[in-house]
Amino acid sequence: MTRITISGNKPLSGEVKISGAKNSAVALVPMAILSKGKTVIYNVPEISDIEYLIKIMELLNCKVEHKNDALYIDSTNVMNKPIPEELSVQMRASYYFMGILLARFGRVEISFPGGCNIGARPIDIHIKGFEELGAHVEIIKNRYIITANKLIGKKIYFDFPSVGATINVMFAAIGAEGTTVIENAAMEPEIVNVASFLINMGAKIRGAGTKRIEIEGKCPLGESVIEVFPDRIESGTYIIIGAALGENLKIKGIIKEHIEALLIKLKEIGVHYEIDGDTLTISRCNKLKPTKIKTLAFPGFPTDLQQPITALLTQANGKSMIEETIYENRFKNTIELNKMGADTKILSDHKLEINGPVKLKGTDVVATDLRGGASLLIAALIADGISHIDNSEYILRGYGDLINKLKNVGAKIEITE
Ligand code: EPZ
Repeated sequence: MTRITISGNKPLSGEVKISGAKNSAVALVPMAILSKGKTVIYNVPEISDIEYLIKIMELLNCKVEHKNDALYIDSTNVMNKPIPEELSVQMRASYYFMGILLARFGRVEISFPGGCNIGARPIDIHIKGFEELGAHVEIIKNRYIITANKLIGKKIYFDFPSVGATINVMFAAIGAEGTTVIENAAMEPEIVNVASFLINMGAKIRGAGTKRIEIEGKCPLGESVIEVFPDRIESGTYIIIGAALGENLKIKGIIKEHIEALLIKLKEIGVHYEIDGDTLTISRCNKLKPTKIKTLAFPGFPTDLQQPITALLTQANGKSMIEETIYENRFKNTIELNKMGADTKILSDHKLEINGPVKLKGTDVVATDLRGGASLLIAALIADGISHIDNSEYILRGYGDLINKLKNVGAKIEITE
């Protein structure tokens, strides 16, 4: 079990460089299999999910070379094999092998995906999309066996703009005859990063980043190069840390358009920041105003920043309200925050009340999931005294080089296994 120890309430200044986006990279890496040749992916984040994905790729006879922040992948001789549970259960993004192996081989066998325990997280929209394209889906115990003699493109309507289902059905549509249209597609920026890689390989895709995506199937896909663009959730997390503890803290590598909802909310609660190109400079705000936040699909306020901003709102002067509309169980972190002196109340599966300002005291807490762990990290950085955060492996899944990045700007932070 990994433990992070923090001695809090230290001003943070200097520069943090944002890494490649986890939620792009976990799709870009496996989709290299769709290319019949060599691909290069730059700016891959150093996180454990990538290591597990590489293990699965190598099991499927892909050659993967990891040099600095780049992956050199050769999928020329890729083979289709059942993906073992001990690998697929390590993360949610293992589900991308469904659309990818369906497109390339017409068959995939894989266990239910893993991922943070923040709700039921079914994949019915993915499965319905595959079936609409002509695939047959069998579930035996906790394994999916999905086969398709032929995939045929068609118009598919999503009941919910699922990020994963949009990317997964786009993958499957690559292997379908004719054109597939996804209506009510997710518009998260990661979709655009993924579609760009496919287009570089030779795919014909239009509308990525909008509610309607059109994919022409059966285009031969060859060599390609892509860069993972910066992680908007990592950016937002460090910006929130800057709002709590920054002294001209610089966050380098942001894409303003990807974090507009957060920036507008921070301005609303009194936080000042400056943006110069891809660098945002921020200092702590001592008079935070309370606010109401409702999480929504992009471009709304991102659910993945709901837990991090909760830690900041414990310092606001008054009552804040959070409405979490994407997941039904994403407030577990607040039980741990309250151990540090936070005054939060879970009003329902989707509603949270935060009263402030409170003095947070360092104490022992346990991370419940990736972004919940990030909220504990932020609270520990704010708190007076020493905090121990156990199960911190959750946090390391989404924040590359976390300890060094924070140490380099003045945090008193250590990690022990
Ligand atoms: C992606 O998860 C991200 N993960 C999540 O980030 C992020 O919270 C989420 O998108 C929403 O932005 C990755 O990209 C690996 P969804 P995904 O499908 O694709 C329900 C993080 O912290 N749903 O948009 O799984 C689902 O239960 C992680 O980095 C169905 O009901 O999200 C959830 O309530 C956490 N049926 C909601 O939709 C489906 O078939 C959002 O799911 C699919 C989803």
